This record gives sequence, structure tokens and C-alpha cells, in this order.
Amino acid sequence: MLAKRRLPRQLFDYVDGGAFREATMSANRADLQSLRFRQRVLRDVSDRRIATTVLGQPLTMPVVLAPVGFAGMMARRGEVQAARAAARVGVPFCESTLSICSLEEVTAATQAPWFQLYVMHDRAYAEELMARARAAGCSTLVLTVDLAVVGQRYRDVRNGVSGNLSRVKRLRRGWDLARHVSWLRDVAVQGRPLTFGNLARALPDAKVPGDFQRWIAGQFDPSVTWNDLAWLREHWTGSIVIKGILDAEDAREAVDRGADAIVVSNHGGRQLDDVPSTIASLPAVVEAVGNSCEVLVDGGIRSGLDVVKALALGARACLIGRPWVYAVAARGESGVRHILNVMAEEMRVTLGLTGVTDVADLDASVLLNP
Ligand SMILES: Cc1cc2nc3c(=O)[nH]c(=O)nc-3n(C[C@H](O)[C@H](O)[C@H](O)COP(=O)(O)O)c2cc1C
Repeated sequence: MLAKRRLPRQLFDYVDGGAFREATMSANRADLQSLRFRQRVLRDVSDRRIATTVLGQPLTMPVVLAPVGFAGMMARRGEVQAARAAARVGVPFCESTLSICSLEEVTAATQAPWFQLYVMHDRAYAEELMARARAAGCSTLVLTVDLAVVGQRYRDVRNGVSGNLSRVKRLRRGWDLARHVSWLRDVAVQGRPLTFGNLARALPDAKVPGDFQRWIAGQFDPSVTWNDLAWLREHWTGSIVIKGILDAEDAREAVDRGADAIVVSNHGGRQLDDVPSTIASLPAVVEAVGNSCEVLVDGGIRSGLDVVKALALGARACLIGRPWVYAVAARGESGVRHILNVMAEEMRVTLGLTGVTDVADLDASVLLNP
């Protein structure tokens, strides 16, 4: 894979890895792959539509670029390139709190993204971030709730990205960066400043901390509860999406607390390991919320076939995380456009061969073993 060759090992592993023994990360893929379609024939599929809406926003296809912290370390001004690609294709880009490019930089380069919020100990800072997002024109706030504490990501520990940084690990990290010349040129030199664009005040020296995971653990507020959604509502008049729901009871609670949409997510297998895959969790969540809110899903979505399977099980749309990051690392904006176009074509073909003409008509009947 081109992204693997271009990126320093520590950065590739940061994106590619999961938590603990990575069982849930693998299950996200395996469970999607185990679903089988029913091949249907002779049903006039000459006209096939994949456009949809999410929270009233028109999308050319049911895909959203998921929030990914640190993405600007993988390609020059990576979030801007990805956001431009998303805008060109006609799907939303969700900006992470932990992006390298700030909300304002992304908005100035293309259009207002969705904004993903992590709640920090300093609530005033979260309020300021929401005010900035509103001022930038963001209509959708994504509150990520599955990171009360950070999952144990052992690849990061091995690579010295998290945990204690011994002298040997420091030297190894330096050498890993130094020998990836095209990354050095594209990102380390031409991609500056490599700071967290949204966190300039929270990180006064504006540096990306060496022990990133420990820094996150120190900044984010693990005391957040469902009651805090009322606080969020006071400061955000647009749509609120709760990301990181896996359990049907939590899904019902999110609806009761006024969520406009939820994302069934296990953070791409980067948080608690040995929890079920998202595709396996989706049907119970969809049943629990009924028509009360839109249900999105992410985790292991890698093709148009996967998107069709998720929609068949009740998702309104899918988020993709790692695929867009690999694409931007390999080929920049055009790489992200390319994978989105490939997924769109795969969706149209899958619809045609399952005898469906519109993604709105998808249900479990297209699957043999839902
Ligand atoms: C490198 C990386 C960083 C991530 N950073 C964030 C983040 O800052 N905020 C967030 O809500 N989710 C974050 N996620 C989770 C993604 O939004 C998404 O849930 C996950 O990547 C979906 O799984 P997939 O990568 O298999 O598509 C991150 C995921 C990855 C791979």
C-alpha cells in the first residue's frame, strides 16, 4: 500500500492500529465480510440512485468522512485536502477537535465542515470551540462519547508514540521520521505549522505533544455524563450527533436526551477491545431508536458493498475513517476523491445486481443472512 511506504512507521501504525489485541478492529471487517447478498435478476435496474440526505443535508452518496485526529500529519494540510475532496464529491467532511488544520483554515479553503467535539476539563474552552464552529458556519456538531479514557494502543506504545519515551525510542522515532524523505518534504517542511489548529489556547506552546496519548488522557474530561447534553444544547443550536454508541440502551438514552442522530461506532476498534463489531450492533440499535433519530455507522467500511450492507441493516449513511487517511497520505486530495468515486460506483453496481434502484429502498431483504 502506497500510504504505508510513504508514512513513517509510527504514523502508519497510529492510523492502522487498534486497541489491546485488536480483536474488535478485526471483527469490524470480518463481520461485514461475512454478510452475503441475495443476487436478484430481471428487475429493470437501468436507473440507480445513491443520493440521500443526512439531517436534512443532501449527500450525493451515503458516506461521510469521519473525524480523524492528527490527519494533517499524514499529508500536507491533510484536513484541507480531504475536506476539498469531500466538497467536490458532495459528502460531508467532519473536522476533529484534534485536527492539525483549524476549523477556520478548512472553512476558508472549502466550506464549513461538521465539527467533532471532545469535552475537555476546561468547559469554557469547549464552549469557545462551539462558538468558533458556529461562527465558521458549521451546522452539525458531533459529540464523541466513547473516549472517556483512551484505549490501550500497544502499537503506539511500541513505537514510542505513547507511554514513556526512553532514549532509545526517541532515537528510533527520529530515525523513522528522517528516513521517509518524501514525507519530510511534503509534511514536515511544506505542511507546517504542525500544531493542533483548534487547540492553540489549550496548548499555549502550540506544539503537538510527544506523548500524545497521555496528553489526551490528561485533557479530556472523563466525568462527562448524559446530563451534560443539556449543557451542550445551551451552546449549540444546530444538529447534535452522538458518536460512539454501541449499546441499544445507550441509543435510547441518546434519543431521550434529544440527539438528532447517533453514530454506531467503536472508534474503529481503538477503544474497548472485545466489544462487538459495529455491523453486528447496528440492528439492535436501529430497532431501539425506531424513527426517532437517524442512525449512522462506522468501523471497517471499505467499499460500496459494505455501505449497501450497512444501509440494508438500517443505517442512514456510513462514516469512513482510515480509508480517507490512507488516500490523502498516498495521493492527497485526488486520492480521497478517487476512493469516494470508486465507492460510489461500487454502490451503483451492487444495487443493480441486488435488484434495487434506490438506496432509500434498501432493507434486510437484500441480504441472505442479515
Ligand atoms: C487515526 C485515527 C484517529 C481518530 N481520531 C478521532 C477523533 O479525533 N475523533 C473521533 O471522534 N474519532 C476519531 N477516530 C475514529 C473515527 O472517527 C472512526 O470512528 C473510525 O475511524 C471508523 O473506523 P474505520 O477507520 O475502520 O473506518 C479516529 C480514527 C483513527 C483511525
